[in-house]
Amino acid sequence: MLRVDRIRVCYDDIPALHEVSFEIEEGQIVSIVGSNGAGKSTILKTISGLLHPVAGQIEFAGTRIDRSPPYEIVRMGIAHVPEGRRIFSRLSVVENLYLGAYTRKSDEEKAETLEQIFRLFPILEERRNQRAGTLSGGEQQMLAIARALMSRPKLLMLDEPSLGLMPILVSKVFDTLKQIHEEGITILLVEQNVREALELADRAYVLMTGNIVLQGTGEELLETDLVRQAYLGM
Ligand SMILES: Nc1ncnc2c1ncn2[C@@H]1O[C@H](COP(=O)(O)OP(=O)(O)O)[C@@H](O)[C@H]1O
Ligand SMILES: [Mg+2]
Repeated sequence: MLRVDRIRVCYDDIPALHEVSFEIEEGQIVSIVGSNGAGKSTILKTISGLLHPVAGQIEFAGTRIDRSPPYEIVRMGIAHVPEGRRIFSRLSVVENLYLGAYTRKSDEEKAETLEQIFRLFPILEERRNQRAGTLSGGEQQMLAIARALMSRPKLLMLDEPSLGLMPILVSKVFDTLKQIHEEGITILLVEQNVREALELADRAYVLMTGNIVLQGTGEELLETDLVRQAYLGM
C-alpha cells in the first residue's frame, strides 16, 4: 500500500531523515518507535506532503506522491492525526468533525460517516455541541482521531496519540486503534510509548537520529536487547 524508499529529508540543509525506507501492507498496523528528535514527525509530515524529500521517493497504491500537495494526498486516502491534537478549541465537537470531511462530496455521505464515527466514539456524540476546548485531554485525542476518520482514509497515520495522557487513557486510545483497524483501516503509528506501540504492531521499526536501525514484527522487537535496554529500561 505504501512504499517509502530511501527518503532523505532536511530542514535548512540539515538532514532529519537520512535514508529511511519502510513498507506498509494493506490491513497492517505498522509502528515506528523512537525517542524525542528521532525524526518520527518528519516521516509523517513527509508522507502527508507537508515536507518533500530531497532524495528518495514515496509511493501510495502504486502512485508516486512525494511531490504532491497535502490536499491531494488526503484525497487519495491518507489521513494524518498530528502531534498535539490541533483541534479547533472554539468550535464544537461536531464542527471539528465536519472540518475533517472537507474532501467529501455530498452531505448525505458526511452524515453517514458521522453516524459511524459516533458508534465508535459514543462520548463524542454525547458532547457533540460542546466546545472542543472544554473536552478532557483524552476526549480531545479521540476527537482528533475521529476528525481524521471523517475523510474515510485507507491509511490513518497517528503522531504520538498517547502523549500527555494518563495511563488509563493511553490504554483506551490503543484499544480504539485496534477497533479502527478491525473496521479495515490500515494504520501507521509513530510513538515514544514503545511497549504499547510494539505490542499493537504487525510490523515495526526503530528510528534513531533519522535512521531505521531495527525492523521486525512487534513481538520480535520487544525481545531485542536494543529495545529492552534503550526503551524499556530492562
Ligand atoms: N521545523 C524544523 N526546523 C528545523 N529543524 C527541525 C524542525 N522540525 C524538526 N526539526 C529537527 O528534526 C529532527 C527530527 O525532528 P522530529 O521529526 O520532530 O522528531 P520526533 O517527532 O521523533 O520527535 C530533530 O533534530 C528536530 O530538531
Ligand atoms: Mg514528533
